[in-house]
Amino acid sequence: MTITRYHQVQASLRAKPRKWLVTGCAGFIGSNLVETLLSLDQQVIGLDNFATGYRHNLEEIQASVSGSQWSRFVFYEGDIRDPAMCAHAVSGVDCVLHQAALGSVPRSLKDPATTNDVNISGYLNMLIAARDAAVSAFVYAASSSTYGDHPGLPKVEDRIGKPLSPYAVTKYVNELYADVFARSYGFASVGLRYFNVFGKRQDPEGAYAAVIPKWVAAMIRGDDVLVNGDGETSRDFCFVENAVQANILAAVAAPEGVNQVYNVAVHARTSLNALFDLLTHALGRQGVQYDKEAVYQDFRAGDVRHSQADISKARTLLGYSPTHTIAEGLEVAMPWYVKFLG
Ligand SMILES: NC(=O)c1ccc[n+]([C@@H]2O[C@H](COP(=O)([O-])OP(=O)(O)OC[C@H]3O[C@@H](n4cnc5c(N)ncnc54)[C@H](O)[C@@H]3O)[C@@H](O)[C@H]2O)c1
Repeated sequence: MTITRYHQVQASLRAKPRKWLVTGCAGFIGSNLVETLLSLDQQVIGLDNFATGYRHNLEEIQASVSGSQWSRFVFYEGDIRDPAMCAHAVSGVDCVLHQAALGSVPRSLKDPATTNDVNISGYLNMLIAARDAAVSAFVYAASSSTYGDHPGLPKVEDRIGKPLSPYAVTKYVNELYADVFARSYGFASVGLRYFNVFGKRQDPEGAYAAVIPKWVAAMIRGDDVLVNGDGETSRDFCFVENAVQANILAAVAAPEGVNQVYNVAVHARTSLNALFDLLTHALGRQGVQYDKEAVYQDFRAGDVRHSQADISKARTLLGYSPTHTIAEGLEVAMPWYVKFLG
């Protein structure tokens, strides 16, 4: 087995644990970050207001780590729109992994003001609190939606278009603030532009669910699978363990790696039609047969047509090396989906 940068970093964190703050810790990506950090014997503070996250996600983490690892976790129920809560949560912390936000393009089109409050004002509160607490690392969830209407493929970090939704505006503004905080206050940060992350604990319910958990839940329940558009829309689906790796590597980045944004994906492009086939086959291997045809409906406003990441920047500057393709990630995630989404 090749020893990667990620292996080395995990070993050094185990040898010399740090104190982390994970905002959005009861959500999908945040809860996976907390689980990995605790399994590496780190001390972790979690902050969440349960806007879209769940207590049962925290219970699942507790069930998956040892008692002594769980005792290193402290949870604050609070809102990033409250500056005092942000200051309280970040006190004494070494590394911040800021995930709390309102995701979903359609949610932001329906209610741009709340998305703006949480994703921009809340983000700014966290940035200020982290600057004042002089944390050693601030890593934040950016988004591939920042590429907007730029037609280029694969997506390269410094070539972006116009945002196509209020959500995309908020994620781009996060990057602008990070840049200005570096220039104005010398405060270092790293932005991770996630591309369609999937895995256990991603919420399948509601109007704003992401495509993979929504479709898997529909397939398990024998419901129709609804495709937006002709099914040839494509995405660079990224298994959550790859996103966790990127966060941990970003938090220990060398000086030349900070004050940057990075694509986080695998550099593959999967159409929705291909995804439908991958899911039916992966579910079949779990003993769940789905025999219906996909149901096609209108394209959805605000969605970009194709997305694929160039990940060479993260490879070079962070030592990022994704461990799972979409098929491999689905294989790992499928037993969880079958257990919890049925
Ligand atoms: N999942 C993806 O594919 C994807 C892609 C691009 C970017 N992102 C970004 O990654 C981050 C995590 O996304 P996720 O998929 O885990 O979503 P999620 O909804 O599962 O998690 C977000 C968490 O933030 C919490 N939160 C929301 N508003 C809050 C507030 N005001 N105060 C405190 N906590 C609050 C929610 O309760 C939830 O637990 C978000 O910033 C999102 O924009 C995700």
